[in-house]
Amino acid sequence: MKNIVVLTGAGISAESGIATFRDQNGLWEKHRIEDVATPEGWLKNPELVLNFYNLRRQQAKTVKPNYAHIKLKELEKDFNVHIVTQNVDYLHEEAGSSNIIKLHGSLFSRCSDRNKTIKAKVFDDMIFGDLAPDGGFWRPDIVWFGEAVPEIENAIPIFRKADACIIIGTSMQVYPAAGLTQYLPHDSEIIILDVNTPPANNSRAKIHYVTKKATEVLMRLLGCLKSNC
Ligand code: APR
Repeated sequence: MKNIVVLTGAGISAESGIATFRDQNGLWEKHRIEDVATPEGWLKNPELVLNFYNLRRQQAKTVKPNYAHIKLKELEKDFNVHIVTQNVDYLHEEAGSSNIIKLHGSLFSRCSDRNKTIKAKVFDDMIFGDLAPDGGFWRPDIVWFGEAVPEIENAIPIFRKADACIIIGTSMQVYPAAGLTQYLPHDSEIIILDVNTPPANNSRAKIHYVTKKATEVLMRLLGCLKSNC
């Protein structure tokens, strides 16, 4: 059974109604990264950070996986599929995908701001001041800019053994996620689904760009992968 690794970004959830980061009206047009997605922002104004993530979590609870998430689950019938996602919205889990690596954390868990390995589930609004077991304060379990991405160590071996890589809905601007394609075998194929043609990739593999919405082409793509086109 062929190994397929799928790298996803905010664009795969756009058709579920979740804003991306760098498109028009994206999250980074409305919020300053340094205020809501850095350790410095947390120290400066934890309530602002919690409000930002509470709002995103409340919205994520109201949306459903779209056709693209669901088709990736169906891909498992014919291929050994690993999802490596930059998303924190839990939609791949809700769609039932079996192998998911979340590079940037989850809106639905929290961690100690003293030791990020101390985690707990969260479904309602977080308030500042709740103490974690290690005496730190609970914070969103999200990888912020400038922080380590521990899950990248689990993602690299998946890329090294992939026969094909599908990249869906990411501007490929944030590392180390954007650098994962360098680990693909020379003879692997890359298919990039993005409404905009993303920047050239840093891979030696053969790249096919499909500049359409993820949900529009994923069905046709499955047929293509099955018939080795
Ligand atoms: N189908 C396919 N692609 C789409 C769709 C769609 N329906 N809608 C938008 N896109 C594409 C856009 O063209 C863009 O290239 O999705 C991409 C979204 O890019 P970003 O907004 O930069 O999101 P992402 O690449 O996931 O950001 C990576 O940056 O801010 C950090 O931690 C955050 O995980 C995030 C990381």
